[in-house]
Amino acid sequence: MVDSRDRIDVLITGGAGYIGSHSAKALARAGYYPVVVDDLRTGHRSAVRWGPFIETDLADKTALNRVFETYPIAAVIHFAGGAYVGESMGAPQLYFQNNVGGTLSLLESMLDHGVASIVFSSSCATYGHPKTIPITEEHPQQPVNPYGESKLMVEKTLFWYARAYGLRYSILRYFNAAGADPEGELGEMHEPEPHLIPRIIAAALGSRSTMEVYGTDYDTIDGTAVRDYIHVTDLADAHVAAMQYLESGGAPAAFNLGTGTGHSVRQVISAIEHASGRKVPFKDHPRRAGDPAELLADAKEAVRRPGWRPRYSDLGSIVQTAWSWHTALHGAAVEARMCNTDS
Ligand SMILES: NC(=O)c1ccc[n+]([C@@H]2O[C@H](COP(=O)([O-])OP(=O)(O)OC[C@H]3O[C@@H](n4cnc5c(N)ncnc54)[C@H](O)[C@@H]3O)[C@@H](O)[C@H]2O)c1
Repeated sequence: MVDSRDRIDVLITGGAGYIGSHSAKALARAGYYPVVVDDLRTGHRSAVRWGPFIETDLADKTALNRVFETYPIAAVIHFAGGAYVGESMGAPQLYFQNNVGGTLSLLESMLDHGVASIVFSSSCATYGHPKTIPITEEHPQQPVNPYGESKLMVEKTLFWYARAYGLRYSILRYFNAAGADPEGELGEMHEPEPHLIPRIIAAALGSRSTMEVYGTDYDTIDGTAVRDYIHVTDLADAHVAAMQYLESGGAPAAFNLGTGTGHSVRQVISAIEHASGRKVPFKDHPRRAGDPAELLADAKEAVRRPGWRPRYSDLGSIVQTAWSWHTALHGAAVEARMCNTDS
């Protein structure tokens, strides 16, 4: 048991979600005490295991203030928000209210309680259509959807709050998060699932009838879109590194998190067929509006400054860990259905 005078409490907003839960585990492993705030709109109570859980919306300032009064929070890692580009196109209000409004509420509570350090989950969606590849942090930020715009608005807020109130921040711009905890304790659970790898796995397992491939005429290796997949455990480690960077006096900055290596949709399907030994049924469709052909990160700054080192982000490890997680989940779901039928 850690003596509460020695422990360092870190508030994790969205810690019941996919990346937040993996980050809570990484923080606990690094000796921190993760305090999770989440309203479970897309997260899962079962994914919070490494510290206390407070179920609340960030917009509830009274509840948020109570968290800062109860725990001696030293820093905040802020994941909570809507994360779906497609949904944001149809419901921009939701994205500005939650991603921007929720963050303003959080920042107000932080400032009121003298908490000055924040690591923020941003996205490659802030860059819009890439003008140069790989994308560096200096690439112009011209989002093409409300999701990316909401992330950019928060980035700008952090910049001005740093100047006016001395806020200290690291902005992490992720490319495509993928994979699952190599120890099998955590993984991706979204409903509906917007991300490529879990959708391909669902098609391989037969829980969806087919996998849709959008766009087969891009100027890429096989005509399908190329993305930079980064293992969720490597992302989690990057949050620990970014927090330690702030603790050691690092200047406010934004860092890309990716590998700089891209994989096409067809290459990912083949990798999953190889890992699973199953055929993936897929159907080709026209391109979706707004999907760039290729997104690749230049993440040299994250390696140079916070000292981050990805360990699991080769496609084989990403697919293997995701496959193990989803087959375990699928097995549990089938078993539960059988028990219900038997009784
Ligand atoms: N998954 C990716 O590939 C990716 C890429 C770039 C950026 N991001 C960003 O990373 C963050 C985490 O993404 P994720 O994939 O883990 O998503 P997720 O949906 O699994 O996790 C988000 C969590 O935030 C919680 N939440 C949302 N709004 C809240 C609110 N107002 N109050 C309290 N809790 C709230 C949800 O319940 C959920 O548990 C998001 O901010 C997302 O935009 C994700």
